[in-house]
Amino acid sequence: MELVIYRGENGRPYVLDPYCPHNGGHLGVGGRVVGNCLECPFHAWTFRGEDGKCVNIPYMETGSKIPSNARVRSHIVTELNGWIYLWHHAEGLEPTWSLPEVEEITCGQWTYRGRTEHHINCHIEEIPENGADLVHLGQVHGPIFAAGVDLRTMWSTFWSFAQHQWSAGWEPCPEPDGHIGVVKLKHAVALFGRMFPGLDLDVTAKQIGPGVVYLYFNSALGTGVYLQHVTPMGPLLQRLTHNIYVSPYIPAPVAKFYMLGEALMVERDIMIWNNKQYVRRPLYVASKEDKLVKKHRDWYSQFYSKVDKPLLRKDNTLDF
Ligand SMILES: [Fe+2]
Repeated sequence: MELVIYRGENGRPYVLDPYCPHNGGHLGVGGRVVGNCLECPFHAWTFRGEDGKCVNIPYMETGSKIPSNARVRSHIVTELNGWIYLWHHAEGLEPTWSLPEVEEITCGQWTYRGRTEHHINCHIEEIPENGADLVHLGQVHGPIFAAGVDLRTMWSTFWSFAQHQWSAGWEPCPEPDGHIGVVKLKHAVALFGRMFPGLDLDVTAKQIGPGVVYLYFNSALGTGVYLQHVTPMGPLLQRLTHNIYVSPYIPAPVAKFYMLGEALMVERDIMIWNNKQYVRRPLYVASKEDKLVKKHRDWYSQFYSKVDKPLLRKDNTLDF
């Protein structure tokens, strides 16, 4: 799906569908911003950012009216924390919740220190579900980051003197914040069986809706946040980005180290996600861990459309 994004002269971002309803010109290739409108490069029809309505056709005979169906679809966007977010609802409903501001970012207290981006072949729910999957923490993220991201070699005895230790919990918020789930995570590193407090990390990750996470962390050196975005790029193809913002006490190289450590951990998850099947009904066993995954699935189900077709796969065939 293509979209055109531009900033009006009022400074606001606007997002429109790209094709001019007149004769199909692409508004994003050669189009011009005129006031808060976008002018088609083909015949200069001009569309208003707020509602996508055509407000000017320069060569029309005087006295004639702009047709009421001369409009492109305009999308609901909001600019927050230095990001532009677009609301999409499969049934076209208006937003029922909004993203909270991260004041430390908007007031400039925390500094942006970089980003990672991964494209992953998996179902969209695999990535957020990770936050409530406690068993995988020891299994996938136990070996020290230096042991690498390959699940086949990370248990090498060479690195066995060092491990990550995790304890975690996940809870959905009560209404009116039912669209938010909170992961609480404590991270520590053990070297030769002794704790190494310099790398302790307290994490509170807010999962806001189906694809945004604010992952706040508290380290020995200071505080910060990773903004995580999951953007669906196609069926079973997700783009995962992490952007880090840190307090001024955390030197840039340390922030980069945090970014690297996080990326290495995520790449282990990615090796799982890229190769696993999506299981609509996992085979849960009696355990508090599996109960929590089920609870996360129940919470996440609110983000699926009631009328949109689910992803259908014919298993064990080459057809899809
Ligand atoms: Fe993970």
